[in-house]
Order: sequence, then structure tokens, then C-alpha cells
Amino acid sequence: MIDLRSDTLTQPTPEMRKAMFNARVGDDVFGEDPTVNALQEKIARLTGKEAALFVASGTMGNQVSINAHTQPGNEIIVEANSHIFNYECGSPALLSGVQVMPLPGFRGSFTVGQVEETIRPENVHHPKTALICIENTHNRAGGTIFPYQDIEQISLLAREQNLKMHLDGARLWNASIATGIPISEYARHFDSVSLCFSKGLGAPVGSIIAGSQEFIDRARYYRKAYGGGMRQAGILAAAAIYAMDHHFERLSEDHRRAKKLGEFIATLPDVELDLETVQTNIIIFDIRKRGVDGQKFVDLLASEGVRMITFARTKIRAVTHLHISDMDIEQTIAALKKVYDKIEKHTISVSKN
Ligand SMILES: Cc1ncc(COP(=O)(O)O)c(C=O)c1O
Repeated sequence: MIDLRSDTLTQPTPEMRKAMFNARVGDDVFGEDPTVNALQEKIARLTGKEAALFVASGTMGNQVSINAHTQPGNEIIVEANSHIFNYECGSPALLSGVQVMPLPGFRGSFTVGQVEETIRPENVHHPKTALICIENTHNRAGGTIFPYQDIEQISLLAREQNLKMHLDGARLWNASIATGIPISEYARHFDSVSLCFSKGLGAPVGSIIAGSQEFIDRARYYRKAYGGGMRQAGILAAAAIYAMDHHFERLSEDHRRAKKLGEFIATLPDVELDLETVQTNIIIFDIRKRGVDGQKFVDLLASEGVRMITFARTKIRAVTHLHISDMDIEQTIAALKKVYDKIEKHTISVSKN
């Protein structure tokens, strides 16, 4: 089975498992796990921040950061299709007591002008705007890259207005490889950055947040409060270190394969796919015009040995990753051709009934 549903599906490689097996460990709640400490120092250096904190997941990284930056009753600005707004269980309200202001984005990004219009003026009626969150790359927009110049401008405004900036960089690795802009260049515009090891980098578990020492001290408290104080977590940190050292540069291969697959999908009749969105390892296309239900489409594709996932009723997502080869892309293209044939027949049989 060629599994293109997500880049989170990767299995740790034999070499990664060896690194995990050999990891020196200690109790990380005591701050005594040497491998976790090494990972945190490595990320602090990579991001150009004072400190970093290993967390269980991307969601935990985002939510701990939001709590550490805000007070209950504050408002945070996000993009309307962002992971924080759509896929984190309402946690800004649940865990931090803040209200979320979603901005309509273009390919997952928004402009300084939009932020300027959204920041609340000081007035007894309003919540206080406290934080701006940016997602880069943007999952639901199709792995799109938030333009660097927009980040610069938004960050400048945030500083002028005394607002904090958080980067949901679950796939910042992909943005950095695709643009050639170093992680630290992105990170310097933010008060906190969250990075995932369990997506394109192929580690089994784990994310990390980076920021000032003072921010990380507060974040450590929230991580513990959320039940995220792990003990011999060095086993996981070893996988993360291995992933960074061996699977970061190769992300360009995932991008090349996604582009090839995206270019083919765009040629299929009645498929809506904005090729401009295929900037990294994610392809999102819409088969609405074909008149076929998305679930039916992915079921048919699975019967040809390829798995993709529905993102909305007629939207389908495919993600390239560590376990997807050039041959897999060829086979996926062949399977898509076959499914298109079947859809033709299926559509006819449905209309007859
Ligand atoms: C952009 C983005 N942020 C955060 C997350 C959350 O990561 P996790 O599943 O590790 O909680 C994801 C997961 O896919 C994501 O795509």
C-alpha cells in the first residue's frame, strides 16, 4: 500500500531505532535527561533562541505557548484555516481562557494590513489582543509557505503594539528547505516557535518549542500542568536528533515528488488544483466538479493500492514523505488513471439508479 494520507505515518527507520536504543536517559522532569537536554540545546542554537522545551506533540507545543503568552480574556489572532483554530479541540478557550480571532487567509497567509485592522483599540468593551499566531507551512492550505516579507511586516507591527508572536512551525523544516531561508531567520521574528519531529522528519513522537529563557520557564510549568512532564524521554529525543541530522535536507525530495504528482493530478478532468499551492510536500485537490463523493474516491483509490485522505466532502489530500519513492509516485499516477476510469462507470451507474 502506498500511503499518502499524512507525513505523520512514517515508521522509525532501523537506524533511528538504533539511536533510540542507544540513547542515554535520565528523568526529564528533574531536568536530568542528557539526550533531551542535548536536543533542547541543539534546537536553541538552530532557532537562535535562549532555550527550548521538548513536548509531546505539536498541539501541546502550540497550546503551552499560547498559555505562556496570554491572560484569560485575551484575544489571539490566527488564520481561519489554521491548525490551532480547527484541529486543536478549542484548546485556546479550554486551556488558556482566550478568545480566537480568525482572519480569512490567502493560501494560509494574511497581511499586516489585516492584522492592523484587527488589533483591538484600548476600550473598556474590548478584549485585549495579546498574540498573533502564524502557521508555516500551512497544512490546510496545501503546505503553503507564509511569505517571508509578510512575516517581517507583521512582526514589526507586533513589536510596535507590544503583541507577542507565535510560529506554529510543525512543518517549518519544509518551508526552510523550500525557500533556503534558515530556521533562525524565520524564528527571529517570533517570541516562540514550535517545531514537530513527527511529521516530515519521520520521528515517531515529539515536538519542541523555543523562545527566551523566561518564556521556556513559564512553558515548562504549563507542560507539567497538561500532563506533559515525561521521564526517560531521551528515547524519543534520540529519534528527534537522528531525524534532524538525517532527514532534514532530504525534504527537497518530498517536495519534488509532490510537485510531480500535483502536476499530473492537475491534468485530470474536472479536478480543481491550484498548482501554486503545491510548494512543499502537500497536495490538496477538489473533485467537486466530477460529482463524486470524496470518500468514495479515496476508497476506489485504496482498492488500487494507494491511500489518500478526504479533507472536506470533495477535497482530497495527498502528502509525500520519507517512505514515498519515485516509483510510488509512478504507481500513484497509474492508480489515479484507473480510478478515473472506474469513476466514469460509477457515475453512469449512479445516474441510472
Ligand atoms: C500545522 C500543524 N500544527 C500542529 C499540528 C499538531 O501536531 P500534533 O498532531 O503532533 O499534535 C499539526 C498536525 O498535523 C499541524 O499540521
